[in-house]
Amino acid sequence: MSGAKIKAVTALEILDSRGNPTLRAGVLLEDGSAGWANVPSGASTGVHEAHELRDGDRERYGGKGVRQAAENVRGPLARAVAGLEAGDCRRVDQALIDADGTPNKSRLGANAILAVSLASARAGAASAGQSLWRWLCPGSKKVLPVPMMNILNGGAHAANNVDIQEFMIIPRGVGSFGEGLRRCAEVYHALGAILRERGLGSGVGDEGGFAPNLGSDEEALELLLRAIGRAGYRPGEEIALALDAAVSEWAGEDGVYRTPKGGKRRSREELAGYWGEIAERYPVVSLEDGMAEDDWGGWQLLTQRLGGRMQLVGDDLFVTNAGRLERGMGEKAGNAILIKPNQVGTLSETLAAVEMAQGAGWGVVMSHRSGETEDAFIADLAVAAGCGQIKAGAPCRSERVAKYNRLLEIEGEMGIS
Ligand code: PGA
Ligand code: ZN
Repeated sequence: MSGAKIKAVTALEILDSRGNPTLRAGVLLEDGSAGWANVPSGASTGVHEAHELRDGDRERYGGKGVRQAAENVRGPLARAVAGLEAGDCRRVDQALIDADGTPNKSRLGANAILAVSLASARAGAASAGQSLWRWLCPGSKKVLPVPMMNILNGGAHAANNVDIQEFMIIPRGVGSFGEGLRRCAEVYHALGAILRERGLGSGVGDEGGFAPNLGSDEEALELLLRAIGRAGYRPGEEIALALDAAVSEWAGEDGVYRTPKGGKRRSREELAGYWGEIAERYPVVSLEDGMAEDDWGGWQLLTQRLGGRMQLVGDDLFVTNAGRLERGMGEKAGNAILIKPNQVGTLSETLAAVEMAQGAGWGVVMSHRSGETEDAFIADLAVAAGCGQIKAGAPCRSERVAKYNRLLEIEGEMGIS
């Protein structure tokens, strides 16, 4: 990796899929190659995530503007990377980290830093004349990920009465990414038909999954099983289930969990017991954030009880941070990590977390955010880093579909489809 140097860096305040401002950065190299990147934004954001810098000026976008972050890209961050080789991602990222100088990127903003980090990588790939997925992570095994597709939305992502944030489906035993995607889309349509027949809402949530009002979270799981059957697949064998409970949103004082919409109170032991019951009754093979981001004891309990039979994914717990992941490995808290580049703020730090997880045999799930854009960088990154799994929402809403379409394109480039 060597080559063209960074000549100029630009920034633009754009909109994300919720209509909130976010950042786009552009990086121009001395050889005329260029790259761009948009950053996403979460709703059920972990408290340990790197800092997302917003203007706080209530006169603009309710305080969510990112003009200062854009200025930081054009000013200090552009100066920090000027003259560096875009192909040397580590060096570029270190320069960005050093320019900020804080542990959580709070001075210049993780959104500003990530935008430059990703745009620079894209420029590097363009300069090398390669597809991003081929160019990133030289020497790694390139693998198309299995979709973990969120088809029913609740929690902080939907204005309904469902407490679990994401109800997902995973195709099993398929020969290609395209085949798995097709199965999932068929189940999504079957679910929509069932909801309409029952007079239930078929409007969608932030990640494109349906967001009906239901009697309970279990009713959502029953609906998923029915939809899988209606689409002609065997639940569990051909399509398995996954949940992102996002229970950091449920955590109260003294380890008591209270579901925000249903108002159910549970101790961490009761919550672990509840997840055990769900795993008994339904073919759930992966549970994300089944305990809260600071409840290490709860995570250990959950991992002792269920870690041998299912994937336990830490999202808010690890926030794509190798340091927190190392603690989780030491304490046997979870057995898989969710990877969201904007939780940590640079490409290199994201890859460090992926490599640490892979080195320990942990599961790795690349992920979008609930506030997304048309940028499909994570699709290339998932393949390049050989993550094996990706969360990119329902086959609905173009910011979600963009990732799936990019993966189809990559599958074509690999010559597998
Ligand atoms: P977020 O949700 O982007 O709102 O944090 C996604 C997730 O929790 O996985
Ligand atoms: Zn999550």
